[in-house]
Amino acid sequence: MRNIVLTGFMGTGKTEVGRELSHILGWSMIDVDEEIVKARKMTINEIFGKLGEAAFRDIETEMIKKISERRNVIISTGGGAVLRQENMDVLRQKGVIVCLRAEAGTILRRTSSDNERPLLQTGDPLARIKELLEIRRPFYEGADIILDTDEKSPLHVAEEILERIGWKR
Ligand code: S3P
Repeated sequence: MRNIVLTGFMGTGKTEVGRELSHILGWSMIDVDEEIVKARKMTINEIFGKLGEAAFRDIETEMIKKISERRNVIISTGGGAVLRQENMDVLRQKGVIVCLRAEAGTILRRTSSDNERPLLQTGDPLARIKELLEIRRPFYEGADIILDTDEKSPLHVAEEILERIGWKR
């Protein structure tokens, strides 16, 4: 079976859904941001603050290329990974691309207790979420499977993904 690649905006549940998939399939879950933090020994906020977003995107691409070589894994990507075609091309070579979706209000609720998302550190995070969702919509829509996550548990979403890819217990 191909790797399962989770894409989608911040707060759409990629990490939680990835954990459920990992549990069901017995596959490792690799979170691209976590791997970057481990490799660089800096938080995502520090990378954005000290090196800037452009440098972060280069680091992200380098990490995605490395992770994409693995087999039978679930890969949870950062919300902006879809912006580079190069990232999606390499992920698609061995994986099915799943995009998780949620309403702006749901995203705000899910991300509001967390300060580790530099792009949402503004006075009006809801406006920022709506603006970024609009800009990114065409990129998220390039996924092979698109699923709404509002009002659904991570387990429910994971089961929907497995059903869509035709996996049988
Ligand atoms: C980003 C999403 C974050 C992280 C970085 C940039 C984005 O990941 O990669 O803060 O551009 O949407 P999550 O989607 O896991 O929060």
